[in-house]
Amino acid sequence: MNIPLIDLKVQYQNIKDEIDKAIRKVIESAQFAGGEEVTGFEHEFAEFCGVKYGVATSNGSTALDLTLLAFGIGEGDEVITTPATFIATTEAITHTGARIVFADIDPDSYNINLKEIEKKITSRTRALIPVHLFGQPCDMDPIIELARKHNLILIEDAAQSHGAEYKGKRVGQFGDASIFSFYPGKNLGAYGHAGIVVTNREDIANKVNLLANHGRHEKYAHLIEGYNYQADAIQMAVLRVKLRHLVDWNEKRRQNAKIYNSLLETLPVLSPKEKEYAKHVYHLYVIKTEKRNELSEWLNSKGISTGIHYPVPLHLQPAYKYLDLVSGSFPVTEELCSKVLSLPMFPELKEDDIISITEEIKKFFSLQ
Ligand SMILES: Cc1ncc(COP(=O)(O)O)c(C=O)c1O
Repeated sequence: MNIPLIDLKVQYQNIKDEIDKAIRKVIESAQFAGGEEVTGFEHEFAEFCGVKYGVATSNGSTALDLTLLAFGIGEGDEVITTPATFIATTEAITHTGARIVFADIDPDSYNINLKEIEKKITSRTRALIPVHLFGQPCDMDPIIELARKHNLILIEDAAQSHGAEYKGKRVGQFGDASIFSFYPGKNLGAYGHAGIVVTNREDIANKVNLLANHGRHEKYAHLIEGYNYQADAIQMAVLRVKLRHLVDWNEKRRQNAKIYNSLLETLPVLSPKEKEYAKHVYHLYVIKTEKRNELSEWLNSKGISTGIHYPVPLHLQPAYKYLDLVSGSFPVTEELCSKVLSLPMFPELKEDDIISITEEIKKFFSLQ
């Protein structure tokens, strides 16, 4: 048996003609930076998310950096987010000079817990960054209400949730601005690095655009100092092709999750719970078990790849030692990190493979 966690090779084989044609077109046009592919994708992805503007960036991390900078977040500010995320979310806060403030997660959705956010709001709080973890949207209505009440900037980190829906609307349209990553393994992934900021705020879109391109709209007129955080045309051409397949791919992920859920029902593992307000897009299919490490080893020994997202919560990472947050500070996140195991999940995963995977899980527990 050889079942990978994700399989980008099979995805490419299925759309090879479209992809090859799109890449060739960019190479033949020699328009590698900027141009029609970039503006075309920005427009199409913004429309997909139900917002007015999209500004493509070099990756999801720079999209976050630029978003926080565009809102003028900086020294003296506090930004609240979850410790159950990838470090890019919090690096962006630190890069501006602001301070990271963590709020623990909800035990069912694994997303930031509203009550915990409320406890962390101070006069210095400037922004909230909810992260739609693993493909499941946060409960946005109460978060939006809280942000309005305290006059906070709301930034969605939707890096793991392309096309996920909250109460029938796609993520990316709830924040003052939102970011996505197109890292290759994401539900919508480039053939290298790419990201985007989407927003209904024209001023923010313009500012992100300016910052991403050395502070200029014209070749040698630099209005401010910025960065070179622009997207590559080849990546945008790839993403334009893949965007046409995203809804179908997400549907296949959901079907695969359903099969997993029913086959795992009687086993001593906790399957992901799709909240009633959510359309989960299963960027990752994450189960919880007390025997995480042993089960992972067992599956790996049978040729089934697994992942751990994430083995160490951010507040306990060496990089955040300076925050002085000891073990026990965020018990729900810590429990999650000690028990999570990501099983193979991708649109092309076959039902037979899911049956084999769950059979191996059953065998593992029968030997315990
Ligand atoms: C939640 C989250 N935010 C931000 C990022 C950063 O995106 P990128 O890897 O494209 O820089 C990631 C990437 O894995 C992520 O998972």
